[in-house]
Amino acid sequence: MGPGDASDPALNDVDVIRVRGDARLAGTVHVVGAKNSALKLMAAALLAPGRSLITNVPRITDIAIMGEVLRRLGCGVRFGPDDPVDPMVAHGGVERSRSVLIDVPERPGAEADYDLVRRLRASICVLGPLLARRGYVRVAHPGGDAIGSRGLDMHIAGLARMGAEISGEHGFVIAEAPDGLHGADIVLDFPSVGATENLVMAAVLARGGTTIDNAAREPEIVDICTMLNRMGARIEGAGTSTLHIVGVPELRPVRHAAVGDRIVAGTWAFAAAMTRGDVTVTGLDPAYLEVALDKLVAAGGLVETRGDAFRVRMDDRPRAVDVVTLPYPGFATDLLPMAIGLAAVSDGGSLITENIFDGRFMFANEMMRLGAEIRTDGHHALVCGRERLSGAPVRATDIRAGAGLIIAGLCADGLTEVSHVHHVDRGYPDFVADLLALGVEVERGTAPEEPDLAI
Ligand code: EPU
Repeated sequence: MGPGDASDPALNDVDVIRVRGDARLAGTVHVVGAKNSALKLMAAALLAPGRSLITNVPRITDIAIMGEVLRRLGCGVRFGPDDPVDPMVAHGGVERSRSVLIDVPERPGAEADYDLVRRLRASICVLGPLLARRGYVRVAHPGGDAIGSRGLDMHIAGLARMGAEISGEHGFVIAEAPDGLHGADIVLDFPSVGATENLVMAAVLARGGTTIDNAAREPEIVDICTMLNRMGARIEGAGTSTLHIVGVPELRPVRHAAVGDRIVAGTWAFAAAMTRGDVTVTGLDPAYLEVALDKLVAAGGLVETRGDAFRVRMDDRPRAVDVVTLPYPGFATDLLPMAIGLAAVSDGGSLITENIFDGRFMFANEMMRLGAEIRTDGHHALVCGRERLSGAPVRATDIRAGAGLIIAGLCADGLTEVSHVHHVDRGYPDFVADLLALGVEVERGTAPEEPDLAI
């Protein structure tokens, strides 16, 4: 019997999470550092030879893969306990966050292969720092994924303006700047998070000044700019649409704690509202979720904020609200599955508009298996709320769709089994333990892989 043989059940099992519906979430949950910050902070460490320490790093698969990317580039990478260990972070003996010590050589490698880039699209964020350090980089093209086509044109055009020669062959992006990069005035077509990060990381070591207009303004951008400035970079304007960067000859290693994860925090906020529960979330400045929390208030929820914590309580059935995703500070696309879940159990019809990824509604079919009434047309979805969904086996197609389906299952009759939950492990440190702590009947297990439907 060979690997992948259909008659070998063990080889074809997939991880599943089963939740019992009619749940009401109540209690406190702590969020650790943001995946989408920590990944980039790890790449930013490449900019200075020596040992950088990043703390509040979430214990998730994507971070482990990023560690592997850095190891293959010649870095020493050691994960350890978070420092200082925050007692809030450890639940039931499971640590949600770690520190990572990255020892960067004088001359890091310059290649990232497809086997890693295909497992972690964010590996593309080594492009900017390696080009700045080495003057040459060869990174596999990540291609599209389950939320849509994901271009690199803005990354490439920006680096070209800074003097890089970019070519592509055999599925790789190759960027060369043998005489180093120079500063440039760059206007992004769209405030792309990844392009802004790559260009900032390239510009900090370039000759002269760079301006990036229409830059992304996400808290994760502010976080990476804060870390880079502490390494000796000169970046102004983080958190606004215009970044000014004056290149410096070299940077020094640093110690830095990742900003809290607003998407994980937002997931719990929506789960509280959908289950008419009462949940307090700690570990994040609630200002980073302002638009999302305002939506929950419009839906009839009570939201209290205090320091680095907020509480969401929903006593009655939520009222339908419309949602439009936009770059930060707009409503985050990564919370779209949660917005659809809320709409699916709200009183009335909601119009949900997705403006960032063309394939984000692909998971709506799975939500419809739970009884959600959804009609999609292009980048709009019309959702007609029902009092209760209906438990069913469904499949996670990406990180956020997986989390959205699990919390939708909490509002269903009976049992919901979400398969392919390895996607959820990519972004949520220990989803099951958090659900248990909030009072949900939940278990993790395996189930035989179902064959894809024939066309
Ligand atoms: N785009 C282009 N050309 C480019 C760059 C982007 O066309 O050169 C397009 C993309 O195809 C997409 C849109 O612009 O349609 C936005 O892409 P952006 O570059 O802003 O996103 P990203 O950097 O690829 C990050 C997060 C995503 C999050 C988006 C938007 C990481 C690792 N990923 O992606 O997070 O949805 O920003 O906020 O930071 C997730 O965590 O589940 C996730 C998908």
